[in-house]
Amino acid sequence: MNNPATTPVVLITGALTGIGRATAVAFAREGAHLVVSGRHDDAGQKLAIELRELGAQAEFVKADVRNDDEVRNLVDQTVARFGRLDIAVNNAGTEGQPGPITEQTADKFAATFDTNVLGVLLSLKHQLRVMQPQGKGSIVNISSAFGKIGAPGASVYAASKHAVEGLTKSAALESVSFGVRVNAVAPGPIQTGMLDRFAGGEEVKSYLANGLPMKRLGEANEIANAIIFVASDTGSYITGQSISVDGGRTAL
Ligand SMILES: NC(=O)c1ccc[n+]([C@@H]2O[C@H](COP(=O)([O-])OP(=O)(O)OC[C@H]3O[C@@H](n4cnc5c(N)ncnc54)[C@H](OP(=O)(O)O)[C@@H]3O)[C@@H](O)[C@H]2O)c1
Repeated sequence: MNNPATTPVVLITGALTGIGRATAVAFAREGAHLVVSGRHDDAGQKLAIELRELGAQAEFVKADVRNDDEVRNLVDQTVARFGRLDIAVNNAGTEGQPGPITEQTADKFAATFDTNVLGVLLSLKHQLRVMQPQGKGSIVNISSAFGKIGAPGASVYAASKHAVEGLTKSAALESVSFGVRVNAVAPGPIQTGMLDRFAGGEEVKSYLANGLPMKRLGEANEIANAIIFVASDTGSYITGQSISVDGGRTAL
C-alpha cells in the first residue's frame, strides 16, 4: 500500500476504542492514510499520534454520527486532507439499554437507533456522495450476529443491527453501477468495552463463550482482519454481503 497513488484513504467512525481502534491500527500497519473519528478530542488526538508513529498519515476529526452536519464535515475534511475517500468503516455503535421488551421505552429505542441506524444512514449518505462520483469506493458497516438472529433481552439492539443489514444491501444495490461496494461485517461476542458493559461481569462472558461452537470470545483484531479483507481490493467481487465473524454462532 506504499505507492501514494494507490495508498487507500480510510475513514473509521467510533474509532477510539474496541473494534474501531483495532481496525485503525491494522490499517495503519498496512500503510493506509487514515481519518479516525469519535466524540472525544483528547483520545482522538492521541490515537492519531499513535497511528503516525506506526508510519501512517493520520488525522482525527470529531464527529457524533447522529449529527448530519458533523458527518458531512467528517467526510469533507477527509477529502480536503487526502483528496479522496477509498474505504469507510461505519463502526460507531451502542449497546443501548438492554432489557426485556416489556421494559423498553421510546427514549431507549431512540437512543439505540439514533446511533446504530441513523448514524449508519448519515455516514452512508455522505460517503456515497463522494464515492459515487469517484467511481470507486468500499464501505463496511459493522453489524452483529444479533443482526441475523433473535436476542432475548437485547431486542432493540438486535433490531437496530437487522436495520444495518437492510441498509447495507440497499446501499450496495444503489451503488454497484458507480463501482462502489457496500458490505457488512457481523461480529459475535468480542472482548471490548461494549461486551463488558453488556455482560456486566465475567460469569456472563463465560456463559456467552461456552455457547459458541469455538468456546471462546473473539478479539477485536479478528474483526479488523475481516474488515480489511472485505474492504480492500482483495474483496473486489463481494458486495451487499454480511460476513459473519462469530466463532460459528450463526451456524447453530
Ligand atoms: N463487542 C461486541 O461483542 C460486538 C458484537 C457485535 C457487534 N459489535 C459492534 O461493533 C461496533 C464497535 O463496538 P465495540 O465492541 O468496539 O465497542 P466500543 O468499544 O464501545 O466501541 C463503540 C465506539 O462507538 C463510539 N460511539 C458510540 N456512539 C457514538 C456516536 N453517537 N457517535 C460517534 N461515536 C459513537 C463509542 O465512543 P463513545 O465513547 O463516544 O461512546 C466507541 O468508541 C459497534 O457497532 C458494535 O455494535 C460489537
